[in-house]
Amino acid sequence: MSAAEAYAEMNHDEHLDMEAIGANLDALMSERAPDRTRIAQSLSLLKASMLLHFAHEEALMKEANYPNLFHHRRSHNYIVNEITVFIAAFVSGRETTTNDVWPHLKKTLDTHIARHDNDLSRYLGVSL
Ligand SMILES: [Fe+2]
Ligand SMILES: [Fe+2]
Repeated sequence: MSAAEAYAEMNHDEHLDMEAIGANLDALMSERAPDRTRIAQSLSLLKASMLLHFAHEEALMKEANYPNLFHHRRSHNYIVNEITVFIAAFVSGRETTTNDVWPHLKKTLDTHIARHDNDLSRYLGVSL
């Protein structure tokens, strides 16, 4: 398997992992009596899966001397910041949190994928 194909497969699998965790988070938040402990665990898992995936992607970009690494990483950092801010608000309970966190994050992720991940895959010569 070429490095480009390995990227396509890793990217695909890890995006699916994030989607599955996000869908679970969404379901937990939609329950009539939401379990705050399980929601907090799901949020932590989602953030961990993001950090893992972004680290994989950034290591690969570095190795491939990808010219847009800086902007791609900045977009990753933005997404991580979004979830970090939400987790802090949720855990502290000080702020009112909305239950549309996953739809919001998914939209941000989809925009990221359409722009940054697709640009990277074009550079590597693979289609996602
Ligand atoms: Fe990705
Ligand atoms: Fe990315």
